[in-house]
Amino acid sequence: MQKVILDTDPGVDDALALYYLIRHPDIDLLGVNTVFGNAPVAVTTRNARFLLEAWSHPAPVHPGAAGPLTPDMPAKSFPTHIHGQNGLGDHPVASPPRDEDDTAARFLIDRIRAHPGEVRVLAVGRMTNLARAVRLAPEIAELVRDVVLMGGAFRVPGNITPAAEANIWGDPLAADIVFGAPWQVTAVPLDLTTQTFMTRAMLARLAAEGGPGMQLVADLSQGYVSFYAASGYDGMLVHDCTAAVYLTDPDLFSLAEGEVRVIPDGIARGLTLMNPVDRQGPLDAWADRPRQFATCGGQPEAILSRIAQVCTA
Ligand code: BDR
Ligand code: CA
Repeated sequence: MQKVILDTDPGVDDALALYYLIRHPDIDLLGVNTVFGNAPVAVTTRNARFLLEAWSHPAPVHPGAAGPLTPDMPAKSFPTHIHGQNGLGDHPVASPPRDEDDTAARFLIDRIRAHPGEVRVLAVGRMTNLARAVRLAPEIAELVRDVVLMGGAFRVPGNITPAAEANIWGDPLAADIVFGAPWQVTAVPLDLTTQTFMTRAMLARLAAEGGPGMQLVADLSQGYVSFYAASGYDGMLVHDCTAAVYLTDPDLFSLAEGEVRVIPDGIARGLTLMNPVDRQGPLDAWADRPRQFATCGGQPEAILSRIAQVCTA
């Protein structure tokens, strides 16, 4: 069994990723950390609890960062046009959000120390909790098995600006810290996740075959599907679940390798720049950084089939 901590901002595509993890027989989900992003952290925390309760999973939820480490960020706004006013596509959620202590970074540190070499962190929101954890306890970089994150746009345009993908744009300093720490990072970027498009028909089939748990995913995804429909697409991108599949089926992904920097501010804020392995020269800003990976290619149809298989089993 793989020990996994999910760091997330549910978030409609986050919900599918969480469902995939709890349905997968090889995943031992140690806990769910939350972060601001698709909604305020009190809302993403409430949503994580709502989902785990609906799916009868006992993983603890630890609230994390309410805002970025990056200074001088533009005023916070939340993508309600994509994830709804409540972060779950306006699917009814009875319990109200509430303010709670931020325990996510401490939970990461404790669990990584408790299981040296075993814990995989899957981060599908802003990288703020992870960056704070590795700043507080730098030794966890040697103790974690690896970090897999949904984020970045290496050879394609971003989805917030032409430069930047949302999870990186929302806290570029945190992302730069995460790519620069001496642990193994694999980013699953827009390069691939803009190809893992689940059609409306496929979502309906999964709901019909997958029982009430998958029906809930389909119900709360309807607003997200409408968002894509407004641009002429009949379905939805499954960004975060694509990163979850990387944990279980890495053979379906192809890797680019190199040192990564994140542009912290200006018009290219959040741009992810990889120094290819074969480049020689005075790359000061990339020097002394660890080589990391990005799944810039892969097999989208096989990834979607895997999601279907796990979520309907
Ligand atoms: C990422 O941004 C969020 O809106 C999604 O949940 C996903 O993690 C895609 O850019
Ligand atoms: Ca997310």
